[in-house]
Amino acid sequence: MENKWHEALNTLFPAAEDVPENIRLAAPINQKHILVNGEIREWSGPFHTVYSPMYLKDENGENKPLLIGSYPLATEKEANEALDAAVSAYDSGRGEWPAMSVHARIKCLEDFTKKMISKREEIVKLIVWEISKSIPDAEKEFDRTVEYIYGTINAVKKLNNSSMLFTIEQGFIGQTKKVPHGVVLCMGPFNYPLNETFTTLIPALIMGNTILFKPPKHGTLLFEPLLEAFKEAFPKGVVNTIYGRGRDTVPVLMKSGKVDVIALIGSSKVADSLKKMHPKSNRLKAVLGLDAKNAAIILEDADIELAVKESIAGTLSFNGQRCTALKILFVHASIVNKFNQRLAEEVEKLTVGMPWTKGVAITPLAEPDKPAYHDQCLDDAVAHGAKVINHESGGGNSYLSLMKPAIVFPVNDQMKLYREEQFGPVIPIVPFISLETPVEYVINSPYGQQVSIFSNDANAISLLIDKLASQVGRINLNAQCQRSPDTFPFNGRKDSAEGTLSIDEALNAFSVDSVVVTKQNAQNQQILENILSGKKSTRLSTNVLF
Ligand code: G3H
Repeated sequence: MENKWHEALNTLFPAAEDVPENIRLAAPINQKHILVNGEIREWSGPFHTVYSPMYLKDENGENKPLLIGSYPLATEKEANEALDAAVSAYDSGRGEWPAMSVHARIKCLEDFTKKMISKREEIVKLIVWEISKSIPDAEKEFDRTVEYIYGTINAVKKLNNSSMLFTIEQGFIGQTKKVPHGVVLCMGPFNYPLNETFTTLIPALIMGNTILFKPPKHGTLLFEPLLEAFKEAFPKGVVNTIYGRGRDTVPVLMKSGKVDVIALIGSSKVADSLKKMHPKSNRLKAVLGLDAKNAAIILEDADIELAVKESIAGTLSFNGQRCTALKILFVHASIVNKFNQRLAEEVEKLTVGMPWTKGVAITPLAEPDKPAYHDQCLDDAVAHGAKVINHESGGGNSYLSLMKPAIVFPVNDQMKLYREEQFGPVIPIVPFISLETPVEYVINSPYGQQVSIFSNDANAISLLIDKLASQVGRINLNAQCQRSPDTFPFNGRKDSAEGTLSIDEALNAFSVDSVVVTKQNAQNQQILENILSGKKSTRLSTNVLF
């Protein structure tokens, strides 16, 4: 071992018998099926082997990578088959699913959700093994997703009921309702593989679109228990899986010009390149959650204890692997020493361990190349004059996939950590004197998701709010950055997002207004009355949903 911290981290990787029984995987999940056109087809091609970010000690005490399963490495051929299935299930809006009443679609989604709930234990276990999320956080991700689905069902009913009315204006009678776009390609991120994927997939589905669903690279196996539920709950071709490497399967979908909406929670670089592949740029709609470098601005009068507590939650929840994480802290020079000292004391108290370790805060990193990247960031910061201020207590040391959080100070504009989204347990701190420093940082940043302000000074807070409201989607006062509650709008400016995803807004993002209008005269009124009283049309209707 290079040093005592590596040795300490090494001891945290368990032997097989140390893993609590309730979280053990009975056997690797070798997923051999893909869901296309309502069929669960056996896959006979190559597979991607999946290793957990957690290592297990063998009988000699050596840490060994842990194989937890495999999934199909599908190709362009299967991607095209899935695309054909989704296009034909949509059938230019005449397919069974888009033409179905909202009430009937809700019934299908409720059926799916019941089936999904029955798989909670399996899915939570797979979240834990695939991305090393702590058990309570994995459970929270599952439960939050179920709540999101039920919230979406209520929102759809509300939307349906509020769009029953006819507007009479300037001699016209019209009714406006939301109708689906067509085929939606949904791609979620590894850090909230279930929740963030479903925050686009579920609203897209309930609005009547048909779905091409590509699971994230890390966090794929956890969808295996849901394939049967997708197949049984929805008509054929409504949900189709795209397994395999994104670079092998997604370009062909985009280049076909048949994808109507791309829903991606991922990087702006990928979103940019995929959008450019689509031959009909006006047809393609995009719902995107992308990069972020959220800043906290901690003013001289801030409550330091509160700022420390929220900064720890903001920078280190799920090891800092949240798009909404605080990724840089600007702290007023007059309080920065006190703040750093308290932050280091509190960071030292955090438990590093495995997802089942009691009270664990820091778990193995999900992306294999991340510890090496963080080392580069730390070396670069040190070369430009910063220190890892909690170095004495191991900050910045990593061993295999485990890393002790690093607090880096003073960070300046020469450093990678000033610009790059570290997406890990590294806390860059920039001291400032003039408020213009953090304001200019946010203005000049290519990203604009959220910001946190810590202060009790109403004048200073107001000044910052007014300067930053045009730069970010959400301003948090005396609180960390976060997406929740899911009823609040979640969006971003610049390269951070396209579209808004609250429970209500997501329904708008995956649908478009359809207006049916006629001139107000006796003959047309009679026609409308015939259609409505005879319940002849699904689109032109006044069915109330309870
Ligand atoms: O990475 C983004 C997730 O949606 C996190 O949600 O900010 O409410 O914890 P949250």
